[in-house]
Amino acid sequence: MGDTNPYLLNFKGYNFERSLVDVNLLENLDDFEVRDDDIFIVTYPKSGTIWTQQILSLICFEDHRYRTKHVDTMDRAPFLEYNIRSMDFLSRPSPRIFTTHMPYYLVPKGLKKTKAKIIYVYRNPKDVLNSFYHFSKVVITLEAPQDLENYMKAFLDGEVVGSVWFDHIRGWYEHRHDFNILFMMYEEMKKDLRSSVCKISRFLEKELNEEDIDAVVQQATFKNMKSDPQANYQSILKNEIGIRGCDAQFLRKGTIGDWKNLLTMDQSERFDRIFQRKMKDIPLKFIWDIN
Ligand code: A3P
Repeated sequence: MGDTNPYLLNFKGYNFERSLVDVNLLENLDDFEVRDDDIFIVTYPKSGTIWTQQILSLICFEDHRYRTKHVDTMDRAPFLEYNIRSMDFLSRPSPRIFTTHMPYYLVPKGLKKTKAKIIYVYRNPKDVLNSFYHFSKVVITLEAPQDLENYMKAFLDGEVVGSVWFDHIRGWYEHRHDFNILFMMYEEMKKDLRSSVCKISRFLEKELNEEDIDAVVQQATFKNMKSDPQANYQSILKNEIGIRGCDAQFLRKGTIGDWKNLLTMDQSERFDRIFQRKMKDIPLKFIWDIN
């Protein structure tokens, strides 16, 4: 599948976005030097990656927190495997923040040997499916879904960028002791952004005072990110990735439970059955709607 699919590049059992992935980097991942103070954001696609990039860069860098330096959020926490601006990772000053959608077994080996920190953000997979479905319709680097039923099948079978959602989270969860990792839930970040910012900054050992926390929270709300060209990725989407039509947005709705506007009752119940079977031994908490 991966070798012939024009949208997916399968590398060691995992699907990357073919037109954007840096294959040279994948082939040389073992040589990628991880520093003790590197920070990695790890997510399955559509789980709040951009949001976490924004939060972490605001926590780590005063210049960004107080807007004395103007850098796109993507460049503050670049993707390792999708280095679309050809950034020289080696010359980036520490602490470096990186972002990746990779499974646990593909990330640079140095992540296990160093004190580098990982924040793994997960989101309820029905909202991931919903977000991915809408996004795939409008972004030219992803295959446009024929219809929801087919898309849901592709998602559950892992015939999408990121492969099988269940495998991604299970892999990272079961190998959590090999890494210095904090699991964060999108829905908890949404329900209580301030506490989430404090939790992340504690994990990163970054002391923030009340004013700093306010500055992070304010710039990380959905509304403010959506209207901030540095944070909303609109120009990247339009000029560097490419869109179909004009309604493509990374920051679409940013809510909990929007899957209810997409899935039929039957689809939802089928999804639930698979979720219960595949996740029964993983004690991570999930929130499916806003109640
Ligand atoms: P929706 O499509 O449900 O709106 P990713 O960055 O991993 O691609 O995830 C994109 C999803 O995260 C989108 O979900 C987007 O709206 C949501 N998101 C981005 N920034 C957010 C924020 N500040 N608050 C809540 N959700 C946010």
